[in-house]
Amino acid sequence: MWVADMDFRSPPAILEALHQRVEHGIFGYASAAPELMQVVVARMREKYQWEIEPSWIVWLPGVVPALNVVCRAYGNDGDEVVTFTPVYPPFLTAPARWGKTLRAIPLRRERSWYTFDADRLERELSSRSKILLLCNPHNPVGRRYERGEIERIANLCVAHDMVICSDEIHCDLILDGGPHTPPATLGPEVGARTITLMAPSKTFNIPGLNCAFAIIENPELRTKFKKTREGIVPGTNVLGFTACLAAYRDGEPWRSALIDYLRNNKEIVRRFISEEVEGLSMDDVQATYLAWIDTQSLGLPKPARFFEQFGVALYDGRDFQGEGFVRLNFGCPRSILMEALDRLRRAVQSRAESS
Ligand SMILES: Cc1ncc(COP(=O)(O)O)c(C=O)c1O
Repeated sequence: MWVADMDFRSPPAILEALHQRVEHGIFGYASAAPELMQVVVARMREKYQWEIEPSWIVWLPGVVPALNVVCRAYGNDGDEVVTFTPVYPPFLTAPARWGKTLRAIPLRRERSWYTFDADRLERELSSRSKILLLCNPHNPVGRRYERGEIERIANLCVAHDMVICSDEIHCDLILDGGPHTPPATLGPEVGARTITLMAPSKTFNIPGLNCAFAIIENPELRTKFKKTREGIVPGTNVLGFTACLAAYRDGEPWRSALIDYLRNNKEIVRRFISEEVEGLSMDDVQATYLAWIDTQSLGLPKPARFFEQFGVALYDGRDFQGEGFVRLNFGCPRSILMEALDRLRRAVQSRAESS
């Protein structure tokens, strides 16, 4: 229940397209077919009323390499990269790798949600702050941010002339039916400073096929991005492109059924954690297939290690700067989910009995 991929076979449309491509038998260097470019352009228009040009799209083997390219490409040594924590660990490790300083701003609790602490962001931004790494939707807390929340921090980035890098790898996994907002759609000033990262990988369970892309409107930022990745970050391979086209062109019915299944899994996890296991709690999950579970009241020094002894592998919150939490991946068949939850309950019961 640990790393963020799912236990489901990919959609038949993808498997069929891959079979056909393998049958072709020639696996040379690849570039994106015009049809794939058009499918991405049409997707942005339909989902976000976002008019992009094919030339804005930069194909990549993954989103994490892009986070690193961004941290390397913009600003100077010692400049700051800002992000909201807890967050997916590569957001925390990429800045220092490229001579930048990480400025981690904890998300704030508001009612029963995490949200950006925009006031603190405003206080902490300085002339050294050059890049905001945004996780949108947010792994691990499962937030689908509202337009107003994103607008406020995007405006602060405009005021401080920062680059916004919005990782939207989970944007097709919205469980609560609400809208996803790419900051690049908020207007020309924000669009011109934003790098949007997307991929079919999480949604269609093809992360091992290494296909992702950046959308970069501003030609200066795009050229800098491309120059920085040159010779280091390869492009996408033929099978990745094939799977991506099939996913976006033909995968919608499968995705829609997936969302129903995940939504039910999420409800099962939430009910179980809040009603059946004393000492654990979690927020609702608006997007992603990841539950962020608070174990603090159990006082476990190493929560993931503890649960692993009972046969459930979880990601430890410490790696996300979220001490005392664990992340559970519910993108799996219900039978496995129920077994995992049962083991969690036994783990907590044994803790209660021994203290
Ligand atoms: C927010 C986020 N970005 C990026 C990735 C991984 O991206 P990739 O496999 O394309 O490098 C993940 C995987 O869990 C993720 O949650």
